Amino acid sequence: MCGIVGYIGTQQACPILIEGLKKLEYRGYDSAGVALLNGGNIEIVKSVGRLHDLEKKLNGYSPWGSIGIGHTRWATHGRPSDVNSHPHKACSSDFAVVHNGIIENYLQLKGWLASEGHIFCSETDTEVLAHLVENFYQGDLLEAVRKAISKVEGSYAMAVMTDQEEDKIVCVRKESPLVIGLGKGEQFIASDIPAILNHTRKTYIMDDHEIAVVENEDVSIFNGTGKKINKSVFNVNWDQQAAEKDGFDHFMLKEIYEQPPAIKETLKGRLDIENYRIQLNDITLEAEYLKNLSKINIVACGTAYHAGLVGKHVIEKLTRIPVEVELASEYRYRDPIVDPERNLVMVVSQSGETADTLAAMKLSKSMGAKVLAVTNVVGSSVSREADSVIYTWAGPEIAVASTKAYITQLVAMYLWGLYIAQLKESLSQKETKEIMDGLRCIPSQVQCILEQTSKIEDIARVVYQKDDLFFIGRGLDYAVAQEGSLKLKEISYIHAESYAAGELKHGTLALVTEDTPVLAVLTQKNIYEKTLSNIKEVKARDAYVIAVTLKSNKSIETEVDKVFYVPENLDILMPLLTVVPLQLLSYYAALMRGCDVDKPRNLAKSVTVE
Ligand code: F6R
Repeated sequence: MCGIVGYIGTQQACPILIEGLKKLEYRGYDSAGVALLNGGNIEIVKSVGRLHDLEKKLNGYSPWGSIGIGHTRWATHGRPSDVNSHPHKACSSDFAVVHNGIIENYLQLKGWLASEGHIFCSETDTEVLAHLVENFYQGDLLEAVRKAISKVEGSYAMAVMTDQEEDKIVCVRKESPLVIGLGKGEQFIASDIPAILNHTRKTYIMDDHEIAVVENEDVSIFNGTGKKINKSVFNVNWDQQAAEKDGFDHFMLKEIYEQPPAIKETLKGRLDIENYRIQLNDITLEAEYLKNLSKINIVACGTAYHAGLVGKHVIEKLTRIPVEVELASEYRYRDPIVDPERNLVMVVSQSGETADTLAAMKLSKSMGAKVLAVTNVVGSSVSREADSVIYTWAGPEIAVASTKAYITQLVAMYLWGLYIAQLKESLSQKETKEIMDGLRCIPSQVQCILEQTSKIEDIARVVYQKDDLFFIGRGLDYAVAQEGSLKLKEISYIHAESYAAGELKHGTLALVTEDTPVLAVLTQKNIYEKTLSNIKEVKARDAYVIAVTLKSNKSIETEVDKVFYVPENLDILMPLLTVVPLQLLSYYAALMRGCDVDKPRNLAKSVTVE
């Protein structure tokens, strides 16, 4: 999604802005631009395409100035074009604005501003912000921004500058992330921490409705009622290297390989091996309330939703508490039934900034529900607004396709299931011990899969030329099949669908031919034979069948065309292993098709608009 950067200080701002925007490229974008303020002039350069297109336009010439704002845009209102790119200016060219989010009432505002004589040149919702600020400006930028946002409905992270006040940038947020990096005699603004990490680790993480006046030597922050507040400094404790490729060709591959340490990190300090107990010290939800839960609602989007599907099986099995899993974009617009006394809402979000997930969370809270967040980003909106948080310690995930975040979200599901089971005493010590021991083996078992990538490349060679592929499985295997299917389509653009294996013959079997490979996941012992029968059904329709299964199922070799064996662990833990070959398969298939693996078309990393 869109990215914002800003700089005010004594250095030339343009190179700093471009460098910051490069760190945000992973979020996905289709155009970029910068605005520099110098000697009573605002100079704006923008370009459709990638940052190198903007750099080409700048070609050796950098607009001069030590105050500037920059933006990468992911089109929502108006197609990608130079004119629709940010920064946007007002009629007088005195104001420049960059904005992430959506101004919902922009048409109404545009109509009103036009009737006041404002002339618009883009199709964007953002341009109204520049004209609004211009409209209200009477010598005080902070006041003009305040008045402008009082008219606005929607979400925004916005940075504004004017040549009437050359000593400041004013920025504000509502439902879209914004951070200010604190330097000595200089300050940085960004929509995401990696953009400023080369310069500082000291940050202010802006909260909704806060407005900041950012000057060389000072940052003043005001809350929604206009009161100046003392914000605590948030020190970022991960480094830039963690957000770089480290010799891998793609972030996605690097992140797949980082899964063993990410799992260890997420388990660290949470498994008390001596007493076979789970320690979730950050959980502040009361034990009595958790013991008496009658339902858990897991709400999330995309891959995080798929982690929730595994979570349903796991938590229900371990605790016997019913779990509903729902897409945040659906949940937020229906009338969900949540009993504040006996239900818990769990939101799962890698970024902690996904607009639909945040809205679902707010809706739940407005109904009085307690919210537990599973997120990877400390300081994210989700983490700050939840009643309790389980952090997944996967480290920064840069590739658009989520891999290590998913696997650590699964770990969080196991920890949470075990934690409630412990409170409810729904598992014996022996059962708890078995699962904890099983979990501790997972990092080395994932490593073992990572050492067999050539086998997965072989399978990718079959798959990459196909137009369609089906993923099938039952129970937990079906939950993983759904993630495998999403991964393949999002980065290789091969049409893939996942089906509960038993459901095929209720319609979809009609589509199975020799041109539609079927990938079957079979690890659950109680339903192995059932899925095997479904494999026979697709084989009888000449499908090329790939099985991902356990070594102990060797007899499958006579039934299918290719097999990938995953190491054996408890049935309940198998999703942590079976997803890895599916991630690698999508990676290699995408590579063979020449796709932009880390930045798939039309997609963005952090979906901060609905
Ligand atoms: C797919 C993927 C997306 C995200 C989804 C939710 O690989 O990454 O489907 O899972 O956009 O994002 P978060 O987890 O940040 O809320």
